[in-house]
Amino acid sequence: MCYQCSSPSRRSFAQFLAAGAGLTVLPACTPEAPKAAAPSSSTAPSSVPPSPEAVTASAGATADAATVGQSPAAPSPTPSPSATLARQFSLDDPASPWVIVNKHRPLKPADYVPADLVRPAVTISAAGEASLLNSTTAAAAEAMFAAAARDGVGIVLASGYRSYSTQVTTYNGYVAARGQADADTASARPGHSEHQTGWAFDIGDGGGACSFEPCFAEQPAAAWAKANGHRFGFVVRYPWMLHPITGYFYEPWHLRYVGVEAATDMLNRGIGTLEEYFGLEAAPAYL
Ligand code: DAL
Ligand code: ZN
Repeated sequence: MCYQCSSPSRRSFAQFLAAGAGLTVLPACTPEAPKAAAPSSSTAPSSVPPSPEAVTASAGATADAATVGQSPAAPSPTPSPSATLARQFSLDDPASPWVIVNKHRPLKPADYVPADLVRPAVTISAAGEASLLNSTTAAAAEAMFAAAARDGVGIVLASGYRSYSTQVTTYNGYVAARGQADADTASARPGHSEHQTGWAFDIGDGGGACSFEPCFAEQPAAAWAKANGHRFGFVVRYPWMLHPITGYFYEPWHLRYVGVEAATDMLNRGIGTLEEYFGLEAAPAYL
């Protein structure tokens, strides 16, 4: 088992990171050797999608796959976005809601800064640039947080935009505390983080329960976001057990805007990762 929550030292580190720079913390588990997904063409016709959400957040969701002998199914040939989607966007342009940033796909340019960063009108526990999102994501977040509040669920913006230089500090902090191999399961290297695009942010519940820890998956804020995020264009970017594809352990707090159409299409088709949805190769490790 790999319970970040059970380790005071790691909890302290998480709190340090969260307080200092809006950082995220994942289980300090050594990931199992990732399996590579079969590359497929982004224009290939849709096939029966895998069931990436078959193992969902639950009371046992904090266990690490490697230590409990579980392993996600080998990724099957990847489907492409439904041909019925009205709009298509670039997978390469960091200003595109469909930009894919992972260990194989660094941001270009590496020092990209969104042109439309704004502070959303939501409850924010982050400071400085971490309170910012790009304008589209900010509007969607405002709608989502308000809907959650109407359902009696409190969600706060815990960490939004991160500049390249902040990601340098963030990543180096992980490496210093946990070593590079472990850091790479939780923190993107500079120039490889979705946070730098303004399309992604981390959520909390406002009370600090399991903040940036695996057990956050069991908190109402995470459960609500997972179930309802698509209605506002969001997906949980690093799902449980799909680290062989995404390169990162489960982050129930990390939401990524892709638009209502795509997020809903992914949900309806049972596709858990953007890599699979867009027919891209798995990115378990840096090239
Ligand atoms: N925690 C995610 C992977 C990031 O650093 O962007
Ligand atoms: Zn995040």
